[in-house]
Amino acid sequence: MSETVPLRVLLGEDGPERRLDVEPGTVLRDALLDAGLSPHGRYARRLNCGGRGLCATCGVRFGTDDPDPDHWHDELADRFGYPRLSCQLRVTDPATVCLLPEKRVWGAGSSPAQAVCPSPPNCRQ
Ligand code: FES
Repeated sequence: MSETVPLRVLLGEDGPERRLDVEPGTVLRDALLDAGLSPHGRYARRLNCGGRGLCATCGVRFGTDDPDPDHWHDELADRFGYPRLSCQLRVTDPATVCLLPEKRVWGAGSSPAQAVCPSPPNCRQ
């Protein structure tokens, strides 16, 4: 039996909190979707790039140290403070992940600092 990595997933300030045990190396987006937790906002749930790192609609924030980016698009997100691309991150260490249910796409509607994950106590904005 392999070890799993614990993830704490927050959905907004008053939203539910879930704890997931994820196989190391699993793509974060896949782990979230498998648990019925979409990293996509309402408008992008059906229309997204399917995890290719192109649409930037799968962004999440981390409550602890952000993982290092591997993908150029996620590197830009990290550099400029946008939500990180869950489809380009593999789960390797325990983390708190904040879903952003009201986001649309990069730069649409609000700045990343105003992204809706309304001040979950352990999520960086
Ligand atoms: S699903 Fe499109 S960038 Fe992640």
